[in-house]
Amino acid sequence: MGSILVSGGTGFIGSHTCAVLLNEGYSLIAADNFSNSSPKVLDALRRLTGRDFRFYEADVTNAGCVEKIFAENDIDGVIHFAAHKAVGESVANPLKYYSNNINASIVLARACCEHGVRKFVFSSSATVYGFGNPPFAEDMPPVFAANPYGMTKVICERILTDTANANKDFSVILLRYFNPVGAHESGMIGEMPGGVPNNLMPYITQVAKGKLKELRIFGDDYDTPDGTCIRDYIHVMDLAEGHTAALKNAPEGVSVYNLGTGRGTSVLELVRAFEAANGIKIPYTIVGRRAGDIAVSYASADKAQKFLGWKAKRTINDMCRDAWNFEKNYGE
Ligand code: UFG
Repeated sequence: MGSILVSGGTGFIGSHTCAVLLNEGYSLIAADNFSNSSPKVLDALRRLTGRDFRFYEADVTNAGCVEKIFAENDIDGVIHFAAHKAVGESVANPLKYYSNNINASIVLARACCEHGVRKFVFSSSATVYGFGNPPFAEDMPPVFAANPYGMTKVICERILTDTANANKDFSVILLRYFNPVGAHESGMIGEMPGGVPNNLMPYITQVAKGKLKELRIFGDDYDTPDGTCIRDYIHVMDLAEGHTAALKNAPEGVSVYNLGTGRGTSVLELVRAFEAANGIKIPYTIVGRRAGDIAVSYASADKAQKFLGWKAKRTINDMCRDAWNFEKNYGE
């Protein structure tokens, strides 16, 4: 076990990973500046796990704040989620993305090296595969991503890799997420996008709740069986469990794993699955393609299974049921 610092601990993936860490008996130190999350998550996590943990309201680009966290705690590993993640906003405001996402990784990695923290898990993305041909495998070289958000993931992967190569006591585990959706089975934590959601599942749940009138499907003229884009949706609890598997089982040095299911689902299939799982009709219209979307993305999921002993278990039906359960009960 040990003490794990989670940056971005109240965000969507961060909060579910905190729940898994607490349930597995780790001691947790979480940090977040609430730039895209709510303080209510802290209480929900404590109630849901029956465990307490330390929390710092902190911006991890601030080296002074990070030094205080490392000085006050005996940290065994860091899981670094804290980052901006809206693709469209990153195109409009690239400096916000480059400055925040890259600085946070540098500040945290430097603190690890200075304080002898040996393990660093980085929240990366399938976006590093760009417009290549799926299934995406870890040995495909990262590309020049299509947008500044994606480039921050490519650049941070490189910075962390170089740092680990130069420091034998510092290991880096790069986890490339596919499309995380769903929520904790309790419905107490879940995805809470600010404003109108950019991503498909939260858009669907808000249409189901009546907050949004109808879904707009971006293009049905792709080269796929039903013409809509295909993605590898993964239940956020499976993804969260992938992080503890990585902490326990990844080798020393630099290692990289996809966290996906290896299965693709089209936009229309996801809409139909949501309707079937929850008995709610989702009105939609087909509109033009969204700039930057690739037709098909799904993971090669073998490496994580072989080396981390981890495999996604939950189904599309589970994802749709749990996403709606959270939105219905707790979504604002
Ligand atoms: N879509 C719609 N209507 C919507 C929202 C999305 O039709 O209102 C479609 C998109 O066009 C796409 C699919 O649903 O075909 C999935 O879109 P998301 O925005 O949910 O997810 P993306 O695959 O575009 O993006 C995700 C993450 C990014 C990451 C990217 C690549 O959100 O952070 O995967 O890995 F960069």
